Amino acid sequence: MSTVRIGIIGMGNIGKFHADYLLTGKVKRAKLVAVCSTSPQKLESFKEKGVKIWGDAAQLIRSGEVDAVIVATPHYQHTTLGIAAIEAGVHVMVEKPISAHKADAERLIAAAKAHPKVKFAAMFQIRAEPRYTKIRNLIQDGELGQIVRVNWINTDWFRSEAYYSSGGWRATWKGEGGGVLINQCLHNLDMLQWLCGMPARVRGFCQLGRFHEIEVEDNVTVSLEWANGASGVFVSSTGELPGTNRFEICGTRGKIVLEKDTLTFTRNEVAADTWNKTSKIGFARPEVHQIDIPITNAEAPHAVLMQSFVDAILDGTPLNCPGEEGLGSIELANVMLYSSLIGQTVELPMDGAAYEKKLSELIAGSKIEKKVVGISTEDFTKSFTR
Ligand SMILES: NC(=O)c1ccc[n+]([C@@H]2O[C@H](COP(=O)([O-])OP(=O)(O)OC[C@H]3O[C@@H](n4cnc5c(N)ncnc54)[C@H](O)[C@@H]3O)[C@@H](O)[C@H]2O)c1
Repeated sequence: MSTVRIGIIGMGNIGKFHADYLLTGKVKRAKLVAVCSTSPQKLESFKEKGVKIWGDAAQLIRSGEVDAVIVATPHYQHTTLGIAAIEAGVHVMVEKPISAHKADAERLIAAAKAHPKVKFAAMFQIRAEPRYTKIRNLIQDGELGQIVRVNWINTDWFRSEAYYSSGGWRATWKGEGGGVLINQCLHNLDMLQWLCGMPARVRGFCQLGRFHEIEVEDNVTVSLEWANGASGVFVSSTGELPGTNRFEICGTRGKIVLEKDTLTFTRNEVAADTWNKTSKIGFARPEVHQIDIPITNAEAPHAVLMQSFVDAILDGTPLNCPGEEGLGSIELANVMLYSSLIGQTVELPMDGAAYEKKLSELIAGSKIEKKVVGISTEDFTKSFTR
């Protein structure tokens, strides 16, 4: 095989976005050959681009006409369609979240493990952003020392009521499996665990429908604790304006602050724990040096991840984000919500079956009746985070 024939399942906001960059040659050795939607009549314009239109994802997967698919549907179908593709020997890139909840994600990951020749990738494009790769290098090279505190105020996810009315699945237990945690700030949760590792215990305080006519969480404050004693707070919201995006990671050897497009590393000349034990003067502190780290935005980060998927299929190179690494962000989103719902601190790894049961109860008790109102999606790319 010299070119990967790709099909996209789910042609809403992000499905169309993937189609655009694939059709304009941003991913080498890849060809968009199929698009699939539950409303295939809306995709007629793809015919003149030489792309075949499908109305049934299962048929597309089994057609023999695609080597790989991108699953860009609402969350619950990620598991079923992902497993269908894997079992048919079709490589699969699953949009975030890889599933709506941990137990489903484990089913998907188990299917991938049982079919090791099939490439299974997850679309967490902000892993390609230099700001985060630079932070990761600082941590992994030991520049920060032991992490002692993590704070992320991540409230610049404002969404209007119109956004929530734009899709029947959005912000419902049944269609989406949660709110701001599983949808908007999932990329940030992926970063939190990619950079700092998974915490050992979590206590969440989530407000359901505080700002919007929705049944799921749209405002959250979460306390985190890692096994080494590091503590943290994660705050997110879709109702706050103007919103803040400030990420601080404090280690024994210094502090990283990422706020909007500014990344700084303030280095302690002597590590805090060493100074603490050796200084003979109560109020003295070591010298610090602030380093402003230049950052640029990744160009077409989705295409970067897609290129890594195509290269992995053709050349066996490592994936930028292997599918199984999508588990951490789901577990964080689930545990933050679960802890709040049961009013207790929860130890990790969490019990995925218990959370699935809780979610089933929420679905069964749901009284929400959504009226879907179409909105302009011209500004959809403004929803991408950095
Ligand atoms: N990585 C990113 O930057 C990014 C950005 C936006 C959305 N997403 C993710 O992409 C997914 C889709 O989000 P969206 O905003 O595009 O949603 P959307 O509602 O705009 O589109 C979903 C589409 O899937 C179609 N669909 C549903 N079930 C289907 C099936 N079985 N077969 C074929 N088509 C089906 C629907 O008709 C709809 O057109 C979500 O998981 C979301 O979290 C990722």
